[in-house]
Amino acid sequence: MHRAFRAKSIEQILTDCESQPHKLKRTLSVFDLTALGIGAIIGTGIFVLVGTAAVGDADRPGAGPALALSFIMSGAACMLAALCYAEFASMIPVAGSAYTYTYATIGELFAWITGWALVLEYGIACGAVSIGWSGYFVSVLERMGVHLPAPLINAPYEGGLINLPASLIVLALTGLLVIGIKESARVTSVIVTIKIAVVLFFIAVGTFAVDPANWSPFMPNGFAGVGAAAAVIFFAYIGFDAVSTTAEEARNPQRDVPMAILASLAICTLLYVAVSAVLTGIVPYSKIHVKAPVAEALNAVGYRWGSALVATGALAGITSVLIVMLLGQIRVCYAMSRDGLLSPWLSAVHPRYGTPHHATLVTGITVAILAGFVPIGVAAELTNIGTLFAFTLVCLAVLVSRRIRPELRRPFRTPFVPVVPVLGMLACLGIMSFLPAITWLGFVSWMLFGLVLYFVYGYRHSRQATRHLA
Ligand code: ALA
Repeated sequence: MHRAFRAKSIEQILTDCESQPHKLKRTLSVFDLTALGIGAIIGTGIFVLVGTAAVGDADRPGAGPALALSFIMSGAACMLAALCYAEFASMIPVAGSAYTYTYATIGELFAWITGWALVLEYGIACGAVSIGWSGYFVSVLERMGVHLPAPLINAPYEGGLINLPASLIVLALTGLLVIGIKESARVTSVIVTIKIAVVLFFIAVGTFAVDPANWSPFMPNGFAGVGAAAAVIFFAYIGFDAVSTTAEEARNPQRDVPMAILASLAICTLLYVAVSAVLTGIVPYSKIHVKAPVAEALNAVGYRWGSALVATGALAGITSVLIVMLLGQIRVCYAMSRDGLLSPWLSAVHPRYGTPHHATLVTGITVAILAGFVPIGVAAELTNIGTLFAFTLVCLAVLVSRRIRPELRRPFRTPFVPVVPVLGMLACLGIMSFLPAITWLGFVSWMLFGLVLYFVYGYRHSRQATRHLA
């Protein structure tokens, strides 16, 4: 077999993890894990991107009131991919997510490709999330009578100079992550409660202001609009894979991780469908605000207090997603560097703070630049294409691993193989097909650059290579 297809055995992954000096404590229950999943999922997607997805812009047609259908479409693709994720999360219950799964099954080259796509997912997602954060930050300040100059809160493409709040929040959180903030389960659960409360509040209050006339025409741009919107709001579901990265801390990972992944996804799908029905019911779709749509919709129908409450809750909620995403990006970089596929400089740990400070700073500074200068739609779509591609590979990995390692213990088995993984791949590729040419161009360039990097660097420096030679 060619060296680029060398796989890291599951036994090896588990031993590497056991031999880590700092082993993590197994404390999380299925309830904690589901909360963690929801904490990572609900954010910019539902609070911000619904605006662009419903209204559309120069590059993409909007879904209009049919936004709920777009959510069902993307939710179904995620559910299929999640069933595949769950098999791996139960089989290889260590941190590392899709990158580790493909390393253990299809081999190093695919692991590199997945990891590189994940860098796109988390890295650019952090940019999109912080731009969403900025929209609500500006909205909260304006309610208090503070008006920031327009050139400083818009990216160049949107007629401004820089989106300064977006860059600054990333730098501030990067600083905190270098020092090593503890993601305490208490804080996570408080923020998750606030988020769900805000969403339920919006649904409950908004329902009274719905005017069914706003729902027609239901599909102003036909199926093209629904598909294009699904490709944007797919972003709202990203994060459920964060549950699988905490498998090392779960009390009963084999059972609880798959359950938590599926439960958090199902709960979010229900909430999203309800929010989009209410949102498009209270304001005519073409008048939906694109920077802080959920809060501004309540404002438009006279609930000023409700609107302020939603804006503040959304701000808190988006901040927690940003932390999870930044950590995700740093962890992937760290894992790839520890395996020798990226420079060891990136996995250096700070002598005093005990955090991977190099990976954190590189991530933070790059994301801060991106957040300041890129429009949110572009960042979200690049994130989505990277994620959809990684999901496709995870579905493929289920098929491959069932074939080449049928004997492995699989506490959770993806049901109806090969139907579910194949449908999962088709659904992800189908949604990818709705993304504009420019997103594809960005994605293909990124992947080609990644391949060159692998053959110039990772291929020779991989720890697996050293193991094989020894
Ligand atoms: N799903 C996360 C969000 O919408 C990334 O912010």
